[in-house]
Amino acid sequence: MSHPAVDDDEITISARALRLLGDQMQRFLLEYRFAMQEVETKLAILREEFLHMHEYNPIEHVSSRVKSVDSLVEKLERRGVGTDFDAIRREIHDIAGVRVTCAFIRDVYRLFDLLTQQDDITVLEVEDYIDSPKPNGYQSLHTIISVPVYLSTGRVDVPVEVQFRTIAMDFWATLEHKIYYKYERQVPDTLIRELKHAADIAAELDTRMERLHVQLHGEPGTEADAFPLRQLGTRIHRV
Ligand code: GTP
Ligand code: MG
Repeated sequence: MSHPAVDDDEITISARALRLLGDQMQRFLLEYRFAMQEVETKLAILREEFLHMHEYNPIEHVSSRVKSVDSLVEKLERRGVGTDFDAIRREIHDIAGVRVTCAFIRDVYRLFDLLTQQDDITVLEVEDYIDSPKPNGYQSLHTIISVPVYLSTGRVDVPVEVQFRTIAMDFWATLEHKIYYKYERQVPDTLIRELKHAADIAAELDTRMERLHVQLHGEPGTEADAFPLRQLGTRIHRV
């Protein structure tokens, strides 16, 4: 990737300012990392508690990242957002991102509910691309939540983008993302059609796997309803 030429004078003049800016940038991004870690902890707790209570793991995989400065600057330019921290805070809500991959669509919604219903979380935005897939076939449940972070200077509410999807949706999105970048966003029509077809097959697979899962474990609700008795039994045995 080529970078725009930088005037040497500019660097010399702004060396101190650059250091200050670097510090400010690190501090700015730190808040997002903390918020991201809080969401990761919340998910880890839900996963572990679910496993303990229901002997069932609703989360296959969690990955997270803080946006790189490069990609943040690219988005600011693309969106025409000012480069002061207040503007970035106000306009860019996916600096902290967490992706939750589940086996089944019902787990996607269950996790979404369990996370977003927590008292300290505020839902800022929900985009349900499972209910309404994108024209290219992309499916996922996106939400932007606000998470309180307590710093030595007080409380800050930090937005985190959380994407919930199934393994099949994740498989498709990962491949589509690679193709999109390989063709520098100019994907040939035939490939676009093939990708859409693959997305339909992935959605069909999700439906079938869920049907099988329900046959094995019963309708949603029944396992959870039946659970407390089972858990009680386990506890009694242990005592
Ligand atoms: P950006 O955040 O700049 O992408 O704009 P946006 O907020 O309008 O987009 P959206 O909320 O639809 O998507 C945000 C994120 O979801 C992206 O950064 C990707 O991680 C993912 N995503 C959305 N659409 C697609 C898609 O068509 N293919 C793939 N692979 N990922 C997507
Ligand atoms: Mg978005």
